[in-house]
Amino acid sequence: MSTSFIFLVFFFIIFIFTNHPSYAADYHHHPTTLLVDQVCNKTNNYTFCVNALYTDPRTPEADSYTLAYISFGLSYNTATDTLRRITELLNNATAHHNRRGLKRCQKDYNEAVAALGSALNDLNSETFFTLPGYANTTSRSAEDCEAHYKPLVSTTIKSLCDICVVVANLFNGGGS
Ligand SMILES: *[C@@H]1O[C@H](CO)[C@@H](O)[C@H](O)[C@H]1NC(C)=O
Ligand SMILES: *[C@@H]1O[C@H](CO)[C@@H](O)[C@H](O)[C@H]1NC(C)=O
Ligand SMILES: *[C@@H]1O[C@H](CO)[C@@H](O)[C@H](O)[C@H]1NC(C)=O
Ligand SMILES: *[C@@H]1O[C@H](CO)[C@@H](O)[C@H](O)[C@H]1NC(C)=O
Repeated sequence: MSTSFIFLVFFFIIFIFTNHPSYAADYHHHPTTLLVDQVCNKTNNYTFCVNALYTDPRTPEADSYTLAYISFGLSYNTATDTLRRITELLNNATAHHNRRGLKRCQKDYNEAVAALGSALNDLNSETFFTLPGYANTTSRSAEDCEAHYKPLVSTTIKSLCDICVVVANLFNGGGS
């Protein structure tokens, strides 16, 4: 056996042993991009933010613009899902106080879906200054719904809107 072959085997073994631990360490969390890290670092819940963004397969390659589509898209989908659920609940709700709360929620989430639809339209035309306002409207609508019908908690949509505001501010002069 040549010395160079022994050296090769030696370095290969070193390579395996030094690389394996980092694979194991990274296995349970996303290897976040710098952009995702910077964005999520500015939100109220870093873990939620990373998990939410990485449900979209575009996130590992996303620039700020794509990340804006992803975060407003996630919010839009959540709001429309909630609106669908409200309709189902209304079809079943017989108690008067439940119906009143749910009607209020229906109005709230219609507003939220409209605001997020406008946000996605503005993104299409690269209009950015309106985006934080739409995210705000959505959070306020979700809070109003929860105040009138407790089971429809606003935590998830508010955390998603929180991401939207941080991403939108990347285009609006940086500050958060
Ligand atoms: C996250 O924020 C903290 C302070 O809020 C800062 O010290 C740190 O450098 C930030 N990390 C990234 C990756 O932006
Ligand atoms: C942050 O998000 C994670 C994952 O969604 C959740 O388990 C945790 O309770 C949240 N933390 C706070 C302080 O809201
Ligand atoms: C509505 O009622 C039907 C029949 O009782 C039930 O199968 C369904 O799960 C209910 N839907 C909701 C959203 O509670
Ligand atoms: C969003 O709402 C917060 C208070 O809830 C307020 O401080 C902030 O200025 C609002 N931002 C926009 C763009 O409307």
